[in-house]
Amino acid sequence: MERRGWRWLPVLLALLAALAVPKVWARGISGAENLGLWPLPFAVKISPRPLHLSPNNFLFGYSPTSKAGSSCEILQEAFRRYYGYIFGFHNWHHGPHQLCSVTELQQLQVHVESECDTFPSISSNESYILHVKGPEALLSANTVWGALRGLETFSQLIYQDSYGTFTVNESEIIDFPRFPHRGILIDSGRHFLSVKTIFKTLDAMAFNKFNVLHWHIVDDQSFPYQSITFPELSNKGSYSLSLIYTPNDVRMVIEYARMRGIRVVPEFDTPGHSQSWGKGQKDLLTPCYKKQLLSGTFGPINPILNTTYNFLSKFFKEISTVFPDEFIHMGGDEVEYDCWASNPDILNFMQAKGFNRNFTKLESFYMFKISNMISAMKKRPIVWQEAFDGRDKFMPGTVVQVWKVEDYKAEQSLVAKAGFPMILSAPWYLDWISYGQDWKHYYDVEPQDFPGSDEEKKLVLGGEACLWGEYVDATNLTPRLWPRASAVGERLWSHKEVRNIEDAYRRLTIHRCRMVRRGIAAEPLFTGYCNYENRM
Ligand SMILES: *[C@@H]1O[C@H](CO)[C@@H](O)[C@H](O)[C@H]1NC(C)=O
Ligand SMILES: *[C@@H]1O[C@H](CO)[C@@H](O)[C@H](O)[C@H]1NC(C)=O
Ligand SMILES: *[C@@H]1O[C@H](CO)[C@@H](O)[C@H](O)[C@H]1NC(C)=O
Ligand SMILES: *[C@@H]1O[C@H](CO)[C@@H](O)[C@H](O)[C@H]1NC(C)=O
Repeated sequence: MERRGWRWLPVLLALLAALAVPKVWARGISGAENLGLWPLPFAVKISPRPLHLSPNNFLFGYSPTSKAGSSCEILQEAFRRYYGYIFGFHNWHHGPHQLCSVTELQQLQVHVESECDTFPSISSNESYILHVKGPEALLSANTVWGALRGLETFSQLIYQDSYGTFTVNESEIIDFPRFPHRGILIDSGRHFLSVKTIFKTLDAMAFNKFNVLHWHIVDDQSFPYQSITFPELSNKGSYSLSLIYTPNDVRMVIEYARMRGIRVVPEFDTPGHSQSWGKGQKDLLTPCYKKQLLSGTFGPINPILNTTYNFLSKFFKEISTVFPDEFIHMGGDEVEYDCWASNPDILNFMQAKGFNRNFTKLESFYMFKISNMISAMKKRPIVWQEAFDGRDKFMPGTVVQVWKVEDYKAEQSLVAKAGFPMILSAPWYLDWISYGQDWKHYYDVEPQDFPGSDEEKKLVLGGEACLWGEYVDATNLTPRLWPRASAVGERLWSHKEVRNIEDAYRRLTIHRCRMVRRGIAAEPLFTGYCNYENRM
């Protein structure tokens, strides 16, 4: 798309900040000077011509030629949501409607070039063009997913003038994401997260244009996923019988995400991180030995038994139908070899296979078998980087998630040189906390800054902010995630050159207040306050 002729918002904002009347700022009146667009769109042109909006005289509608129309539930629901975000909050201060010469914006017409889609995918086109002028604004997009992104931006353009009147300046916006995979990892294995908490996370994700919920659903500590085929897994492996995700809960999460253009990628991490599986599935885990005797403890999944693969193939068959997304995360991280090394059956098997006491080869043998299994189900595997590092045979098209923070750029180079697509998470482990504004470090990351050719850099599909759950449950998940993850959101959506930290701070402060107003308990970036119409 043509970028010449478009003004960059940061330049504009810097200029306006210089011109801003300090008294207005001191009174905390929100002005159009600083809309806090987040993530910053590709090209933004905002004119000084304001339009007024009145809650009783504003509609979302469809252009006559739009392929998706009023039968499209995704858009109908989005219209309801965004009407609420724009007008519907009691803590907005409703000023008198100004009956001056200002034009009223009465409608936002949505034009979608393709029919109402069912599920978003990695190749969904999320671009949109927003043309705000009176009395009708136009939002055009290739798909409903792009229209959703455009609605979010439209809602961010609206502010209240000094009389409290809802106002939007005439403007033109061209926007599309830099990367197609923009994810948040949540971990419901270490602490159960209620469906309500997951919904909140999905809301906030949509406000930040994230499009993948990486659901690390089970781990060593608990197995809350209720399997239809193997109900004993959660009967025995969950923290409590009430702390489970029933098939209906899972459906609701997928549907809630779909309505917001968010894909749900489930992770069932094996062969390590799988202690909780062993409670409800006999003989799945490797029995460990101590001095040639069974010790009574268990290690990773037992990779040498046919029963293991029979079980996993039925289990993943279910997963592949329950979760509609093309991808399933297979885990493959932090496998501990001690137990395997203690077990004489494992050692015999390895000898027969010629693995030469190389446990990495055994792990790779296992990962390849289960990757094959899910490929046969028409799904694509994602794995943590160790599965790539120790690969013997590796399924083509497997996505590698780079997570180890030391030398992550070198790892990116290796993955790219081998021709595999990747997702970056190493610099974005949000469960690590420290004093101060660590969002700035997340913001500074450049996902394609590793030694490699342009072709190799294109293998970066995007990234994920990970919020592991050892120290996180519903009480602190939201403020720990937001607005810190917003920094990652802008890095993955906005143009590479959008890196000015002062401008980001200014916009993110406003965006954070907007999230708070919309019911997201996002923590503050630093000292200050949300202005009066944003009062908590
Ligand atoms: C919007 O219009 C108002 C009124 O002319 C102007 O003061 C403000 O600077 C404009 N906002 C932006 C972001 O250009
Ligand atoms: C997305 O759709 C827009 C509008 O139809 C089009 O211009 C653009 O090339 C598409 N982008 C991709 C990556 O296909
Ligand atoms: C496991 O399956 C393989 C391949 O199908 C077969 O050769 C082998 O005999 C089976 N092992 C057992 C113990 O059933
Ligand atoms: C073990 O096997 C892996 C995978 O084939 C290989 O990369 C590694 O070099 C081997 N390790 C040793 C010590 O031979």
